[in-house]
Amino acid sequence: MFITFEGVEGSGKSTQAKLLVEFLSERGYKVTLTREPGWGRLGELIRKMILDERDLDLDPFSELCLFCADRAQHVRDFIKPKLQDGEIVICDRYFDSTLVYQGHGRKLDKRLVNKIATASTLDLIPNITFLLNLPVRTGLTRLQTRGDITKMDEEPLEFHETIRQGYMLLARREPERIKKINGDRDSSEIHEEISGIVINSIAKES
Ligand SMILES: Nc1ncnc2c1ncn2[C@@H]1O[C@H](COP(=O)(O)OP(=O)(O)O)[C@@H](O)[C@H]1O
Ligand SMILES: [Mg+2]
Repeated sequence: MFITFEGVEGSGKSTQAKLLVEFLSERGYKVTLTREPGWGRLGELIRKMILDERDLDLDPFSELCLFCADRAQHVRDFIKPKLQDGEIVICDRYFDSTLVYQGHGRKLDKRLVNKIATASTLDLIPNITFLLNLPVRTGLTRLQTRGDITKMDEEPLEFHETIRQGYMLLARREPERIKKINGDRDSSEIHEEISGIVINSIAKES
């Protein structure tokens, strides 16, 4: 089973992904946590180019290609082998991020982004995607407490608002896969809802 977390910056993706991993391992499931961008040797280099190099004025199309290059490598060399071994893989951001950040945020042609981002999954679409929804301002305020600010976090408020809208659109289009979760609550309450959905889904699968 392949599960992804999506949402604006500071929406609680990493927090909830970690809680879910703990929850599942405690129940005896073999589970792996990973994130995008930045898996492996290529991913490390790409993550640095995209998120850390503040002087590098990346063209949006170049940015799109870098995210997708990172993903294809991650899927082929890490995620697919883990799934084939029967593990549950949880990924912090995946191709929906590309659809909204490069399509809606950077305003590239949405059909083109859709084609390239979908191709970069090598036909691996998540079984469940949790979309943590909360006011953009709330997320950005949380980030200030967390520290660890990347180039993407420094975009203006309108950019993050566009991202949130983009995510909403995706969730409306794919309500079966994308579970919209109210992220403006206590972490434990959110976790309870998420773990309930996952347990149900595992029960249905077996
Ligand atoms: N439900 C929550 N309520 C309040 N603060 C939260 C909640 N979930 C996460 N945080 C805090 O907000 C910050 C951002 O959370 P994080 O999980 O890193 O978000 P993301 O990975 O989506 O950017 C962290 O400091 C985290 O501890
Ligand atoms: Mg995170």
